[in-house]
Amino acid sequence: MRVELKNLSKRYKDADRELTVINRLTFSFPERGTVAIIGRSGIGKSTLMHLLGGLDTPSEGQVLYGDSDISALESDARAAFRAKNVGFIFQFHHLLPEFSAVENVALPLIMSGMRDDEAHERASALLDRMGMKPREDHRPSQLSGGEQQRVAIARALVTRPRVVLADEPTGNLDVVTAAEVQELLMQMNRELENTLIVVTHSHELARTMDLVVEMLPGGGLIEHRAKNAGREEIG
Ligand SMILES: Nc1ncnc2c1ncn2[C@@H]1O[C@H](COP(=O)(O)OP(=O)(O)O)[C@@H](O)[C@H]1O
Ligand SMILES: [Mg+2]
Repeated sequence: MRVELKNLSKRYKDADRELTVINRLTFSFPERGTVAIIGRSGIGKSTLMHLLGGLDTPSEGQVLYGDSDISALESDARAAFRAKNVGFIFQFHHLLPEFSAVENVALPLIMSGMRDDEAHERASALLDRMGMKPREDHRPSQLSGGEQQRVAIARALVTRPRVVLADEPTGNLDVVTAAEVQELLMQMNRELENTLIVVTHSHELARTMDLVVEMLPGGGLIEHRAKNAGREEIG
């Protein structure tokens, strides 16, 4: 699905000051493929991801999925849209500790109304494709960091969202495990033909993606195309 930002601004206000993190940003993400978002800590990458996924609302402007502006939706409608169209993966997995891997992955399907046994079957099949079948009855605390993140990826992908947002998904993993998890994200992106947008600190990982977008102070974005060494200021 095509995701577009139009004239997007985000300001945080507290008692005596206002912080503008994103200022009138206009940008189009490609309809398919992989996008890396890079930029220094505190610049606004997570803020952008939250706006992109409708977890937060902009101060001004629009977040368009196709023709619908999700930032104009009431919070219930936004949550419903998100459940159907967006998969989230965070640095820390946020898996439910009392549930097994397969139960965690089945949950988004059950919440969207699927029967328990069917949801479990689907969740189990996806975990199998991700090499996690032998671990599907383990709880998160019984899994390694890389395995936990695989389960979190399965949970984000099980509903087959058109857009997958990952905010430093490998930030908590060692280099080798990070590369494996990143490769899994890329492989699943090719299989499911969605748009994958990943915030990463690793330039090495960023270079493996179709498009690298760098966030600048004030929330502007610069595109570094993989096949074109040139830079283009676009927002
Ligand atoms: N809920 C919030 N309230 C106030 N300021 C915030 C909030 N969330 C983030 N910020 C500030 O916005 C800026 C961007 O933060 P963030 O989007 O988390 O950056 P990044 O993910 O690039 O490290 C930072 O200065 C941060 O302190
Ligand atoms: Mg962040």
